[in-house]
Amino acid sequence: MTSRRDFLGAFGALGAASVLSRALQAQPRFARDPFTLGVASGYPWPRGFVLWTRLAPEPGRADGGLDPAVLPLRWEVFADEALRERVANGEVLADPAWAHSVRVEVKGLEPDRWYWYRFAAGDALSPIGRTRTAPAEDAASGRLRFAFASCQHYEQGFFGAYRHIARDAPDLLAFLGDYIYESSWGHHHVRKHEHGEPYTLDEYRLRHMLYRGDPDLQAAHAACPWILTWDDHEVDNDYADDRPEDGMERARFLERRAGAYQAYFEHMPLPERMRPRGPDMRIYGQLRWGRLARFLLLDDRQYRTPQACPRPGRLGGSSTVDVAACAALAEPGRTMLGHAQERWLERALAEPRAGWNLLAQQTRMAQFDQKPGGGRRAWSDGWDGYPAARQRLFDAFTMHRVANPVVLGGDVHMFNVSELKRDFDDPASPAIASEFVGTSITSQGWPQRRLDRLLPDNPHMKLADSRYRGYVRVEMTAQVLRADLRAMESVLTRDAGCSTLASYVVENGRPSPQRA
Ligand SMILES: [Fe+2]
Repeated sequence: MTSRRDFLGAFGALGAASVLSRALQAQPRFARDPFTLGVASGYPWPRGFVLWTRLAPEPGRADGGLDPAVLPLRWEVFADEALRERVANGEVLADPAWAHSVRVEVKGLEPDRWYWYRFAAGDALSPIGRTRTAPAEDAASGRLRFAFASCQHYEQGFFGAYRHIARDAPDLLAFLGDYIYESSWGHHHVRKHEHGEPYTLDEYRLRHMLYRGDPDLQAAHAACPWILTWDDHEVDNDYADDRPEDGMERARFLERRAGAYQAYFEHMPLPERMRPRGPDMRIYGQLRWGRLARFLLLDDRQYRTPQACPRPGRLGGSSTVDVAACAALAEPGRTMLGHAQERWLERALAEPRAGWNLLAQQTRMAQFDQKPGGGRRAWSDGWDGYPAARQRLFDAFTMHRVANPVVLGGDVHMFNVSELKRDFDDPASPAIASEFVGTSITSQGWPQRRLDRLLPDNPHMKLADSRYRGYVRVEMTAQVLRADLRAMESVLTRDAGCSTLASYVVENGRPSPQRA
Protein backbone atom coordinates (compact mmCIF):
# COMPACT_ATOMS: atom_id res chain seq x y z
CA MET A 1 0.00 0.00 0.00
CA THR A 2 1.25 3.47 -0.83
CA SER A 3 2.19 5.65 2.13
CA ARG A 4 1.13 9.26 2.32
CA ARG A 5 4.67 10.51 1.75
CA ASP A 6 5.06 8.34 -1.36
CA PHE A 7 1.70 9.55 -2.57
CA LEU A 8 2.47 13.25 -2.27
CA GLY A 9 6.01 12.83 -3.57
CA ALA A 10 4.86 10.83 -6.53
CA PHE A 11 2.18 13.35 -7.34
CA GLY A 12 4.87 15.96 -7.79
CA ALA A 13 7.44 13.81 -9.55
CA LEU A 14 5.50 11.38 -11.67
CA GLY A 15 1.99 12.79 -11.92
CA ALA A 16 -1.29 11.39 -10.75
CA ALA A 17 -1.66 8.68 -13.37
CA SER A 18 1.21 6.50 -12.25
CA VAL A 19 0.24 6.80 -8.58
CA LEU A 20 -3.26 5.83 -9.56
CA SER A 21 -2.13 2.77 -11.47
CA ARG A 22 0.07 1.68 -8.56
CA ALA A 23 -2.73 2.19 -6.05
CA LEU A 24 -5.22 0.36 -8.24
CA GLN A 25 -3.00 -2.69 -8.32
CA ALA A 26 -3.57 -3.00 -4.59
CA GLN A 27 -7.35 -3.14 -4.33
CA PRO A 28 -8.31 -2.76 -0.70
CA ARG A 29 -10.33 -5.39 1.12
CA PHE A 30 -12.65 -4.33 3.90
CA ALA A 31 -13.78 -6.53 6.75
CA ARG A 32 -16.77 -4.15 7.22
CA ASP A 33 -18.81 -1.91 4.94
CA PRO A 34 -16.65 1.19 4.29
CA PHE A 35 -19.65 3.27 3.10
CA THR A 36 -21.26 3.82 6.52
CA LEU A 37 -21.51 7.58 5.85
CA GLY A 38 -23.46 7.21 2.61
CA VAL A 39 -22.99 9.28 -0.52
CA ALA A 40 -23.77 12.87 -1.45
CA SER A 41 -23.77 15.26 -4.37
CA GLY A 42 -23.74 19.01 -4.71
CA TYR A 43 -23.32 22.23 -6.67
CA PRO A 44 -24.99 21.18 -9.93
CA TRP A 45 -23.87 23.01 -13.06
CA PRO A 46 -25.22 22.45 -16.58
CA ARG A 47 -22.69 19.73 -17.42
CA GLY A 48 -22.13 18.03 -14.10
CA PHE A 49 -21.97 18.14 -10.33
CA VAL A 50 -19.80 17.16 -7.36
CA LEU A 51 -19.99 13.60 -6.05
CA TRP A 52 -18.84 12.81 -2.51
CA THR A 53 -18.18 9.93 -0.17
CA ARG A 54 -15.85 9.06 2.68
CA LEU A 55 -14.53 5.61 3.49
CA ALA A 56 -15.18 4.87 7.18
CA PRO A 57 -15.76 1.23 8.13
CA GLU A 58 -15.65 2.32 11.80
CA PRO A 59 -17.35 5.74 12.04
CA GLY A 60 -16.80 5.83 15.80
CA ARG A 61 -13.08 6.35 15.20
CA ALA A 62 -11.65 9.64 13.90
CA ASP A 63 -9.65 7.80 11.22
CA GLY A 64 -12.75 5.84 10.23
CA GLY A 65 -11.02 2.63 11.18
CA LEU A 66 -8.53 2.77 8.28
CA ASP A 67 -4.75 2.68 8.20
CA PRO A 68 -3.07 5.88 6.97
CA ALA A 69 -2.70 4.64 3.39
CA VAL A 70 -4.02 6.05 0.13
CA LEU A 71 -6.95 3.95 -1.12
CA PRO A 72 -8.40 3.81 -4.63
CA LEU A 73 -12.12 4.13 -5.36
CA ARG A 74 -14.11 3.82 -8.55
CA TRP A 75 -17.14 5.96 -9.37
CA GLU A 76 -19.89 5.55 -11.95
CA VAL A 77 -22.71 7.80 -13.23
CA PHE A 78 -25.77 6.36 -14.95
CA ALA A 79 -28.53 7.90 -17.05
CA ASP A 80 -31.16 5.55 -15.64
CA GLU A 81 -32.31 4.39 -12.25
CA ALA A 82 -31.73 0.72 -13.13
CA LEU A 83 -28.03 1.54 -13.69
CA ARG A 84 -28.00 0.05 -17.21
CA GLU A 85 -26.73 3.06 -19.13
CA ARG A 86 -23.39 4.20 -17.72
CA VAL A 87 -22.46 7.67 -19.01
CA ALA A 88 -19.33 8.47 -16.99
CA ASN A 89 -16.91 6.68 -14.71
CA GLY A 90 -13.41 6.93 -13.32
CA GLU A 91 -11.07 6.42 -10.41
CA VAL A 92 -10.23 8.64 -7.50
CA LEU A 93 -7.82 8.31 -4.58
CA ALA A 94 -8.87 8.64 -0.93
CA ASP A 95 -6.11 10.43 0.97
CA PRO A 96 -5.80 9.71 4.71
CA ALA A 97 -4.70 13.34 5.22
CA TRP A 98 -8.31 14.22 4.25
CA ALA A 99 -9.90 11.39 6.24
CA HIS A 100 -10.29 9.17 3.15
CA SER A 101 -12.95 11.52 1.81
CA VAL A 102 -13.24 11.92 -1.94
CA ARG A 103 -14.93 14.35 -4.27
CA VAL A 104 -15.36 13.99 -8.00
CA GLU A 105 -16.32 16.86 -10.28
CA VAL A 106 -18.20 15.11 -13.06
CA LYS A 107 -18.17 16.90 -16.41
CA GLY A 108 -19.58 16.39 -19.90
CA LEU A 109 -23.15 15.46 -18.95
CA GLU A 110 -26.42 16.80 -20.35
CA PRO A 111 -28.04 19.86 -18.77
CA ASP A 112 -31.28 19.80 -16.83
CA ARG A 113 -31.76 16.11 -16.13
CA TRP A 114 -31.44 13.48 -13.39
CA TYR A 115 -28.59 10.99 -13.00
CA TRP A 116 -27.75 8.12 -10.62
CA TYR A 117 -24.32 7.34 -9.19
CA ARG A 118 -22.37 5.04 -6.90
CA PHE A 119 -18.85 4.37 -5.66
CA ALA A 120 -16.94 1.11 -5.28
CA ALA A 121 -13.88 0.31 -3.17
CA GLY A 122 -12.43 -3.18 -3.38
CA ASP A 123 -15.50 -5.37 -3.62
CA ALA A 124 -17.65 -2.99 -1.56
CA LEU A 125 -20.39 -0.98 -3.29
CA SER A 126 -21.80 2.28 -1.94
CA PRO A 127 -25.50 3.10 -1.72
CA ILE A 128 -26.90 4.61 -4.94
CA GLY A 129 -27.42 8.36 -5.04
CA ARG A 130 -29.66 10.42 -7.28
CA THR A 131 -28.62 13.83 -8.51
CA ARG A 132 -29.11 16.21 -11.39
CA THR A 133 -27.56 18.86 -13.58
CA ALA A 134 -28.69 22.48 -13.74
CA PRO A 135 -30.34 23.86 -16.89
CA ALA A 136 -28.09 25.47 -19.51
CA GLU A 137 -27.29 29.08 -18.68
CA ASP A 138 -29.48 30.43 -21.48
CA ALA A 139 -32.27 27.88 -20.99
CA ALA A 140 -35.84 29.16 -20.86
CA SER A 141 -37.07 29.68 -17.34
CA GLY A 142 -39.01 26.50 -16.64
CA ARG A 143 -39.55 25.52 -13.04
CA LEU A 144 -37.35 24.96 -9.99
CA ARG A 145 -38.37 23.09 -6.85
CA PHE A 146 -36.02 23.27 -3.90
CA ALA A 147 -36.02 22.93 -0.14
CA PHE A 148 -34.03 24.85 2.41
CA ALA A 149 -33.15 23.80 5.94
CA SER A 150 -30.83 24.66 8.84
CA CYS A 151 -30.00 24.03 12.49
CA GLN A 152 -29.97 20.33 13.31
CA HIS A 153 -29.02 19.73 16.92
CA TYR A 154 -28.49 15.96 17.11
CA GLU A 155 -29.47 15.61 20.75
CA GLN A 156 -32.67 17.64 20.47
CA GLY A 157 -34.44 15.49 17.92
CA PHE A 158 -34.48 13.01 15.10
CA PHE A 159 -33.92 14.27 11.57
CA GLY A 160 -37.32 13.04 10.33
CA ALA A 161 -37.83 16.29 8.38
CA TYR A 162 -35.31 14.94 5.86
CA ARG A 163 -37.54 11.95 5.23
CA HIS A 164 -40.24 14.38 4.09
CA ILE A 165 -37.78 16.42 2.06
CA ALA A 166 -36.62 13.25 0.27
CA ARG A 167 -40.26 12.36 -0.38
CA ASP A 168 -40.81 15.81 -1.95
CA ALA A 169 -37.99 14.97 -4.40
CA PRO A 170 -36.76 18.57 -4.81
CA ASP A 171 -34.29 19.56 -7.54
CA LEU A 172 -31.95 20.91 -4.89
CA LEU A 173 -31.52 21.38 -1.17
CA ALA A 174 -29.96 24.54 0.22
CA PHE A 175 -28.55 24.05 3.72
CA LEU A 176 -28.15 27.32 5.59
CA GLY A 177 -25.97 26.56 8.59
CA ASP A 178 -25.59 24.74 11.90
CA TYR A 179 -25.09 21.35 10.26
CA ILE A 180 -23.43 20.18 13.47
CA TYR A 181 -23.52 21.67 16.95
CA GLU A 182 -20.31 21.82 18.93
CA SER A 183 -22.05 22.04 22.30
CA SER A 184 -24.75 20.28 24.26
CA TRP A 185 -27.80 22.28 25.34
CA GLY A 186 -31.59 22.19 25.38
CA HIS A 187 -34.05 19.79 26.97
CA HIS A 188 -35.71 16.46 26.03
CA HIS A 189 -32.63 14.94 24.44
CA VAL A 190 -33.48 11.92 22.26
CA ARG A 191 -29.81 10.89 21.87
CA LYS A 192 -26.39 12.10 22.94
CA HIS A 193 -23.27 13.63 21.44
CA GLU A 194 -20.88 10.84 22.28
CA HIS A 195 -17.97 13.17 23.02
CA GLY A 196 -17.43 16.57 24.61
CA GLU A 197 -17.08 19.85 22.71
CA PRO A 198 -14.71 19.44 19.72
CA TYR A 199 -11.55 21.54 19.46
CA THR A 200 -9.27 19.49 17.20
CA LEU A 201 -9.59 18.19 13.64
CA ASP A 202 -10.12 14.63 14.87
CA GLU A 203 -12.80 15.76 17.34
CA TYR A 204 -14.70 17.63 14.60
CA ARG A 205 -14.40 14.55 12.37
CA LEU A 206 -16.05 12.46 15.07
CA ARG A 207 -18.87 14.99 15.44
CA HIS A 208 -19.52 15.05 11.68
CA MET A 209 -19.53 11.25 11.50
CA LEU A 210 -21.98 11.03 14.38
CA TYR A 211 -24.42 13.38 12.62
CA ARG A 212 -23.88 11.80 9.24
CA GLY A 213 -24.73 8.39 10.62
CA ASP A 214 -28.36 9.50 10.81
CA PRO A 215 -30.27 7.51 8.16
CA ASP A 216 -32.73 10.29 7.28
CA LEU A 217 -29.92 12.79 6.76
CA GLN A 218 -28.10 10.28 4.56
CA ALA A 219 -31.26 9.69 2.57
CA ALA A 220 -31.67 13.43 1.89
CA HIS A 221 -28.06 13.65 0.73
CA ALA A 222 -28.67 10.72 -1.63
CA ALA A 223 -31.94 12.22 -2.94
CA CYS A 224 -30.74 15.43 -4.62
CA PRO A 225 -27.76 17.77 -4.91
CA TRP A 226 -27.09 20.12 -2.01
CA ILE A 227 -25.62 23.59 -1.83
CA LEU A 228 -24.43 24.82 1.54
CA THR A 229 -23.29 27.58 3.72
CA TRP A 230 -22.40 27.40 7.41
CA ASP A 231 -23.16 29.36 10.55
CA ASP A 232 -21.40 29.52 13.90
CA HIS A 233 -21.94 26.04 15.36
CA GLU A 234 -19.84 24.32 12.72
CA VAL A 235 -16.99 25.89 14.72
CA ASP A 236 -18.03 27.68 17.93
CA ASN A 237 -21.16 29.47 19.15
CA ASP A 238 -21.29 33.14 18.05
CA TYR A 239 -17.76 33.25 16.70
CA ALA A 240 -16.91 36.25 14.54
CA ASP A 241 -13.97 35.94 12.14
CA ASP A 242 -10.98 35.21 14.43
CA ARG A 243 -12.90 35.94 17.65
CA PRO A 244 -14.28 32.99 19.62
CA GLU A 245 -17.11 33.11 22.12
CA ASP A 246 -14.98 32.45 25.17
CA GLY A 247 -11.83 34.53 24.75
CA MET A 248 -9.54 31.75 23.62
CA GLU A 249 -6.26 33.22 22.39
CA ARG A 250 -6.39 34.20 18.68
CA ALA A 251 -3.73 31.81 17.34
CA ARG A 252 -5.30 28.88 19.17
CA PHE A 253 -8.76 29.78 17.95
CA LEU A 254 -7.54 29.97 14.34
CA GLU A 255 -6.07 26.49 14.79
CA ARG A 256 -9.43 25.32 16.06
CA ARG A 257 -11.19 27.01 13.13
CA ALA A 258 -8.80 25.30 10.70
CA GLY A 259 -9.68 21.88 12.14
CA ALA A 260 -13.40 22.63 12.05
CA TYR A 261 -13.25 23.92 8.45
CA GLN A 262 -11.20 20.94 7.28
CA ALA A 263 -13.61 18.45 8.87
CA TYR A 264 -16.52 20.34 7.29
CA PHE A 265 -14.88 20.19 3.87
CA GLU A 266 -14.12 16.49 4.30
CA HIS A 267 -17.78 15.66 4.97
CA MET A 268 -19.63 17.86 2.47
CA PRO A 269 -20.13 17.59 -1.31
CA LEU A 270 -18.25 20.85 -1.92
CA PRO A 271 -16.30 21.62 -5.09
CA GLU A 272 -12.52 21.34 -5.05
CA ARG A 273 -12.09 25.14 -5.28
CA MET A 274 -13.41 25.41 -1.70
CA ARG A 275 -10.68 23.19 -0.18
CA PRO A 276 -9.50 25.08 2.93
CA ARG A 277 -6.01 26.47 3.40
CA GLY A 278 -5.33 26.55 7.11
CA PRO A 279 -8.07 28.57 8.80
CA ASP A 280 -9.35 30.04 5.51
CA MET A 281 -12.02 28.55 3.32
CA ARG A 282 -14.01 30.42 0.72
CA ILE A 283 -17.51 28.98 0.73
CA TYR A 284 -19.44 31.95 -0.73
CA GLY A 285 -20.28 32.02 -4.41
CA GLN A 286 -23.14 31.79 -6.87
CA LEU A 287 -25.02 29.01 -8.59
CA ARG A 288 -27.16 29.67 -11.66
CA TRP A 289 -30.34 27.88 -12.58
CA GLY A 290 -30.80 28.75 -16.26
CA ARG A 291 -32.45 32.11 -16.78
CA LEU A 292 -34.92 31.42 -14.01
CA ALA A 293 -32.86 32.01 -10.90
CA ARG A 294 -29.52 32.16 -9.24
CA PHE A 295 -28.44 31.46 -5.69
CA LEU A 296 -26.00 33.86 -4.08
CA LEU A 297 -24.57 31.83 -1.21
CA LEU A 298 -23.14 34.08 1.48
CA ASP A 299 -20.78 33.54 4.41
CA ASP A 300 -21.58 35.93 7.22
CA ARG A 301 -19.31 34.24 9.83
CA GLN A 302 -15.76 34.07 8.56
CA TYR A 303 -15.14 37.74 7.82
CA ARG A 304 -17.48 39.69 10.11
CA THR A 305 -16.68 42.45 12.57
CA PRO A 306 -17.12 41.23 16.17
CA GLN A 307 -20.57 41.81 17.66
CA ALA A 308 -21.15 45.31 19.08
CA CYS A 309 -21.67 46.10 22.76
CA PRO A 310 -21.20 42.62 24.22
CA ARG A 311 -22.21 41.83 27.76
CA PRO A 312 -19.27 42.24 30.14
CA GLY A 313 -17.06 39.16 30.01
CA ARG A 314 -18.51 37.86 26.73
CA LEU A 315 -15.67 39.25 24.57
CA GLY A 316 -17.59 39.89 21.38
CA GLY A 317 -20.24 37.24 21.87
CA SER A 318 -23.76 38.19 20.95
CA SER A 319 -26.33 39.79 23.20
CA THR A 320 -29.50 41.80 23.03
CA VAL A 321 -28.52 45.45 22.92
CA ASP A 322 -30.45 48.64 23.51
CA VAL A 323 -30.06 50.34 20.14
CA ALA A 324 -30.11 53.88 21.57
CA ALA A 325 -27.40 53.02 24.11
CA CYS A 326 -25.04 51.19 21.75
CA ALA A 327 -23.36 53.79 19.53
CA ALA A 328 -20.97 51.19 18.08
CA LEU A 329 -23.86 49.34 16.46
CA ALA A 330 -24.36 51.97 13.76
CA GLU A 331 -20.68 52.46 12.86
CA PRO A 332 -20.43 52.37 9.05
CA GLY A 333 -17.18 50.37 9.14
CA ARG A 334 -18.91 47.35 10.66
CA THR A 335 -19.20 44.52 8.16
CA MET A 336 -21.13 41.25 8.12
CA LEU A 337 -19.56 39.79 4.98
CA GLY A 338 -16.10 41.33 5.04
CA HIS A 339 -14.96 43.83 2.43
CA ALA A 340 -13.89 41.33 -0.26
CA GLN A 341 -17.20 39.43 -0.14
CA GLU A 342 -19.17 42.68 -0.06
CA ARG A 343 -17.40 43.81 -3.23
CA TRP A 344 -17.96 40.42 -4.86
CA LEU A 345 -21.67 40.54 -3.99
CA GLU A 346 -22.06 44.11 -5.24
CA ARG A 347 -20.43 43.13 -8.56
CA ALA A 348 -22.63 40.04 -8.83
CA LEU A 349 -25.77 42.09 -8.15
CA ALA A 350 -24.71 44.64 -10.75
CA GLU A 351 -24.78 42.04 -13.56
CA PRO A 352 -28.08 42.47 -15.34
CA ARG A 353 -29.97 39.23 -14.90
CA ALA A 354 -33.63 38.46 -15.24
CA GLY A 355 -35.44 36.01 -13.03
CA TRP A 356 -34.97 35.63 -9.30
CA ASN A 357 -32.02 36.49 -7.07
CA LEU A 358 -32.05 34.15 -4.09
CA LEU A 359 -29.69 35.22 -1.29
CA ALA A 360 -29.03 32.03 0.64
CA GLN A 361 -27.43 32.93 3.96
CA GLN A 362 -27.41 31.95 7.61
CA THR A 363 -29.07 34.58 9.81
CA ARG A 364 -32.19 36.74 9.80
CA MET A 365 -32.00 39.92 7.74
CA ALA A 366 -35.25 41.62 8.74
CA GLN A 367 -35.11 44.02 11.67
CA PHE A 368 -36.59 42.48 14.79
CA ASP A 369 -37.36 44.77 17.70
CA GLN A 370 -37.16 42.72 20.89
CA LYS A 371 -38.49 45.43 23.21
CA PRO A 372 -42.28 45.74 23.45
CA GLY A 373 -43.46 49.37 23.13
CA GLY A 374 -41.07 52.35 22.83
CA GLY A 375 -37.35 51.99 22.10
CA ARG A 376 -35.73 49.05 20.40
CA ARG A 377 -33.57 46.15 21.47
CA ALA A 378 -31.64 44.24 18.81
CA TRP A 379 -29.96 40.82 18.70
CA SER A 380 -26.36 41.73 17.93
CA ASP A 381 -25.39 38.48 16.18
CA GLY A 382 -27.84 38.73 13.25
CA TRP A 383 -28.09 41.46 10.59
CA ASP A 384 -29.61 43.73 13.27
CA GLY A 385 -26.07 43.90 14.67
CA TYR A 386 -24.75 45.20 11.34
CA PRO A 387 -27.29 47.82 10.21
CA ALA A 388 -24.88 49.80 8.01
CA ALA A 389 -23.85 46.65 6.14
CA ARG A 390 -27.50 45.74 5.67
CA GLN A 391 -28.23 49.23 4.34
CA ARG A 392 -25.37 48.94 1.82
CA LEU A 393 -26.90 45.68 0.58
CA PHE A 394 -30.36 47.24 0.31
CA ASP A 395 -28.84 50.21 -1.55
CA ALA A 396 -27.28 47.75 -4.00
CA PHE A 397 -30.70 46.12 -4.58
CA THR A 398 -32.10 49.52 -5.50
CA MET A 399 -29.14 50.98 -7.38
CA HIS A 400 -28.71 47.92 -9.62
CA ARG A 401 -32.47 47.33 -9.93
CA VAL A 402 -31.91 43.75 -8.82
CA ALA A 403 -34.73 41.57 -10.11
CA ASN A 404 -36.80 39.86 -7.43
CA PRO A 405 -34.42 39.67 -4.48
CA VAL A 406 -35.53 36.97 -2.05
CA VAL A 407 -33.52 36.36 1.11
CA LEU A 408 -33.45 32.85 2.61
CA GLY A 409 -32.23 32.51 6.17
CA GLY A 410 -31.98 30.34 9.27
CA ASP A 411 -30.38 30.59 12.71
CA VAL A 412 -33.35 31.73 14.78
CA HIS A 413 -35.23 28.41 14.98
CA MET A 414 -38.56 29.88 13.93
CA PHE A 415 -40.44 30.46 10.71
CA ASN A 416 -40.33 34.13 9.68
CA VAL A 417 -41.88 35.69 6.61
CA SER A 418 -41.03 39.37 6.20
CA GLU A 419 -40.94 42.35 3.92
CA LEU A 420 -37.46 43.83 3.86
CA LYS A 421 -37.73 47.61 3.94
CA ARG A 422 -35.32 50.42 3.31
CA ASP A 423 -36.47 51.89 6.61
CA PHE A 424 -38.00 49.36 8.97
CA ASP A 425 -39.05 52.11 11.38
CA ASP A 426 -41.22 53.82 8.76
CA PRO A 427 -44.39 51.86 8.02
CA ALA A 428 -44.76 53.81 4.76
CA SER A 429 -41.34 52.72 3.50
CA PRO A 430 -41.77 50.38 0.53
CA ALA A 431 -40.73 46.73 0.58
CA ILE A 432 -37.62 46.14 -1.52
CA ALA A 433 -37.23 42.38 -1.00
CA SER A 434 -38.88 39.37 0.60
CA GLU A 435 -37.43 37.19 3.30
CA PHE A 436 -38.20 33.63 4.34
CA VAL A 437 -36.51 32.20 7.40
CA GLY A 438 -36.83 28.45 7.79
CA THR A 439 -37.30 27.03 11.22
CA SER A 440 -34.82 24.38 12.41
CA ILE A 441 -34.59 20.72 11.57
CA THR A 442 -34.49 20.00 15.33
CA SER A 443 -32.97 22.88 17.32
CA GLN A 444 -35.25 24.33 19.98
CA GLY A 445 -36.64 27.84 19.69
CA TRP A 446 -38.34 30.55 21.73
CA PRO A 447 -41.69 30.11 23.44
CA GLN A 448 -44.36 31.36 21.03
CA ARG A 449 -45.90 33.67 23.64
CA ARG A 450 -42.63 35.62 23.85
CA LEU A 451 -42.75 36.12 20.09
CA ASP A 452 -46.43 37.09 20.05
CA ARG A 453 -45.76 39.96 22.45
CA LEU A 454 -43.25 41.43 20.00
CA LEU A 455 -45.22 41.20 16.76
CA PRO A 456 -46.97 44.60 17.14
CA ASP A 457 -43.49 46.19 17.20
CA ASN A 458 -42.51 44.45 13.95
CA PRO A 459 -45.27 45.11 11.42
CA HIS A 460 -43.06 44.18 8.44
CA MET A 461 -42.97 40.62 9.83
CA LYS A 462 -45.96 38.79 8.39
CA LEU A 463 -45.40 35.56 10.25
CA ALA A 464 -43.29 34.52 13.22
CA ASP A 465 -43.88 30.98 14.43
CA SER A 466 -41.44 29.13 16.68
CA ARG A 467 -43.73 26.20 17.57
CA TYR A 468 -42.58 23.81 14.86
CA ARG A 469 -39.40 22.24 13.57
CA GLY A 470 -39.25 21.58 9.83
CA TYR A 471 -38.12 23.16 6.58
CA VAL A 472 -39.31 25.33 3.69
CA ARG A 473 -40.31 23.94 0.31
CA VAL A 474 -40.14 26.35 -2.62
CA GLU A 475 -41.55 26.00 -6.11
CA MET A 476 -40.89 28.75 -8.61
CA THR A 477 -41.48 29.79 -12.20
CA ALA A 478 -40.71 33.08 -13.92
CA GLN A 479 -44.08 34.40 -12.75
CA VAL A 480 -44.29 33.33 -9.14
CA LEU A 481 -42.38 31.87 -6.22
CA ARG A 482 -44.37 29.82 -3.75
CA ALA A 483 -43.00 28.86 -0.33
CA ASP A 484 -44.63 26.19 1.84
CA LEU A 485 -43.65 26.30 5.52
CA ARG A 486 -43.40 22.60 6.39
CA ALA A 487 -44.02 21.78 10.05
CA MET A 488 -43.13 18.51 11.77
CA GLU A 489 -45.63 17.04 14.26
CA SER A 490 -42.70 16.12 16.49
CA VAL A 491 -38.98 15.48 16.39
CA LEU A 492 -39.08 13.13 19.36
CA THR A 493 -39.91 10.16 17.11
CA ARG A 494 -38.28 9.22 13.81
CA ASP A 495 -41.41 8.77 11.75
CA ALA A 496 -43.53 11.81 12.69
CA GLY A 497 -45.77 13.42 10.10
CA CYS A 498 -45.24 16.77 8.41
CA SER A 499 -47.81 19.27 7.14
CA THR A 500 -47.89 22.73 5.62
CA LEU A 501 -48.34 25.40 8.28
CA ALA A 502 -48.80 28.21 5.76
CA SER A 503 -47.95 29.06 2.15
CA TYR A 504 -46.81 32.39 0.75
CA VAL A 505 -46.33 33.59 -2.79
CA VAL A 506 -44.09 36.29 -4.20
CA GLU A 507 -45.09 37.50 -7.66
CA ASN A 508 -42.53 38.57 -10.23
CA GLY A 509 -41.86 42.30 -9.81
CA ARG A 510 -43.68 42.59 -6.44
CA PRO A 511 -41.22 42.37 -3.55
CA SER A 512 -43.69 41.36 -0.88
CA PRO A 513 -44.76 37.89 0.26
CA GLN A 514 -48.53 37.34 0.23
CA ARG A 515 -50.37 34.62 2.09
CA ALA A 516 -51.51 32.02 -0.46
FE1 LIG B 1 -28.96 27.12 15.11
